[in-house]
Amino acid sequence: MAKKKTTFVCQSCGNQSAKWLGKCPQCGAWNTFMEEIVSTSSSIHSAKNSYRSSKKVKSLSDVEPLTQKRLVFSDNELNRVLGGGAIPGSLILFGGEPGIGKSTLMLQVALLNPQFKVLYVSGEESDEQIKTRADRVKSEISNNIFILTETDTTIIKNAAENIQPEILIIDSIQTLHSDKLDSAPGTVSQIRECTFEILAFSKSLSLPTFIIGHINKEGSLAGPKVLEHMVDTVLQFEGDRNHFYRIVRSIKNRFGSTNELALYEMLESGLKPVNDPSKILISAREEDLSGIAITANLEGVRPLMIETQALVSRAAYGTPQRSTTGFDSRRMNMLLAVLEKKCGFKVGMEDVFLNITGGIKIEDPASDLAVLSAIVSSREDIPISSKFCFSGEVGLSGEVRPVQKISARVSEAQKLGFEKIYISKYNDLSALNNLDEITVFKVKKIEEVFRDLFR
Ligand code: TYD
Ligand code: MG
Repeated sequence: MAKKKTTFVCQSCGNQSAKWLGKCPQCGAWNTFMEEIVSTSSSIHSAKNSYRSSKKVKSLSDVEPLTQKRLVFSDNELNRVLGGGAIPGSLILFGGEPGIGKSTLMLQVALLNPQFKVLYVSGEESDEQIKTRADRVKSEISNNIFILTETDTTIIKNAAENIQPEILIIDSIQTLHSDKLDSAPGTVSQIRECTFEILAFSKSLSLPTFIIGHINKEGSLAGPKVLEHMVDTVLQFEGDRNHFYRIVRSIKNRFGSTNELALYEMLESGLKPVNDPSKILISAREEDLSGIAITANLEGVRPLMIETQALVSRAAYGTPQRSTTGFDSRRMNMLLAVLEKKCGFKVGMEDVFLNITGGIKIEDPASDLAVLSAIVSSREDIPISSKFCFSGEVGLSGEVRPVQKISARVSEAQKLGFEKIYISKYNDLSALNNLDEITVFKVKKIEEVFRDLFR
C-alpha cells in the first residue's frame, strides 16, 4: 500500500504547505489551511501523464482546425453564452449560489433536448427527487435521459463508457470523490483531482461536460481558482433567490466571447429564457413617481433598460444610513460625495437607499447618471418622466463621461419609445442617422441634467 502523507492545503487557492499556516502566503486568506491526506502514488501526476503520453511535438501547420460541430440546444440563451452551442470535448463549469437554479437549468438541458443522449450524474439528490423536479419542468420524459446518483469518479466514468452519452452533466463537483485520494469530498485536492479525471475523460471521448460548482461566501467558486484554470468555459449564475430573474454570465470562454449573458425567469415550471429582455426590468406604473430613473445599460453586448430607485429621507438617528441592493455601495458613496461637493445638495445627513429592480446586479458605469438623478428626484420629491432615460458615467469632478457603444443604447431607447436620453457631450452619435423620435440631451456636467429635469 502506498505510504500516506499529509499536507496542509489552502481551501481558497489550493496552495500547499508542509506546516499549518494562519495566513496563506499566496492568496492572503486567513485560517484556510486544512490538513489533507495525499497518497504518494496517486493522482493528478499519473492522470496527467496518461492523458499527455500520446501527444507528440508537431508543426502547427499540420494541426487540423477545429471542425467539430457545436451541439446546439433548444435554448437559445444558453447557446449564446456558450458562443453558439457546446463544443464536443469541452468542459463547462457552471457556478452559482445554492438554490439559484443550477440543477434546474442543467436538468432542463437534458429534458428539453431529446435529440441528445444525456447522462445526468447527481451526488446531491436521489432518483426520486430528480424525477419530481423533471415533472415540474416537463410532463413528458424522453427515454434519451439517463440518471446516475453516484459520487465515485471511477463508477461515473464506467457508466459513461457503457451508456455513451452525447452530453455529460455532473451535479456537483463538490460532492465527487476519487479513490486515488483519501481526503474528504469538497476539499481542494479532491475537487482538483476529480476535475482532472473528468477533464481527461471527456476530452478522450469528445464528450461535452457540464460541471456544477457551488459558490462560497466570498462569491468565488468554492475550492477554487485552480478549477477555473482547468476548464474551457466558466458560466456563472447571478440573481437574487427571492426574485424571478436570473442572469447567466460567461466569465471565461475558450470558444467564444465573454461578453455574453443569458436572461431567465424562474417560474413554477422551471427556468424560462427571456428572449426580449429590454423592457422587463422596468416596472409598470401609471403615474410618474419621484425617486425613479431609468438607465440605458449594456449588459454583455445587449442594451438593457433598467430601473433604479432611490429613497432619500432625513436621518432618524445620528448616523445616516446608506444601503444599496444591486449596486456597489462604495460607488454610491462616491456619487453622493460628488453630489454634495459639486452640486451643493446636502445629502451628508440624510439616509439614502438605492435599489435596482429585478434583483439583478449592475456594474456598467453608465448607470451613474440614472442613480444620481433618482437620488435627486427623491430628495426634491419631483418625479422624472417615465419617457426619459440616462446613460453616462460620472467622474469625481461632476463631469459626465462618455460610455462605450452609445449608438446601441440610444437606438434601443428610441425603439422602446423613450422620448429623451441624457448622455455625455463627448459621446459621438454621428454614426446614427435616424434619430427623429428621441431627443438626445448632451451634457458636460451633472448640474446641466438637474437643471433640465428639476428646474
Ligand atoms: P435548484 O436548481 O435546486 O438550485 P441549485 O441547484 O442552484 O441549488 O433551484 C431551486 C430553486 O428553484 C428552489 O428554490 C425552487 C425553485 N424552482 C422553481 O421555482 N420552479 C421550478 O420549476 C423548479 C424546478 C425549482
Ligand atoms: Mg442543485
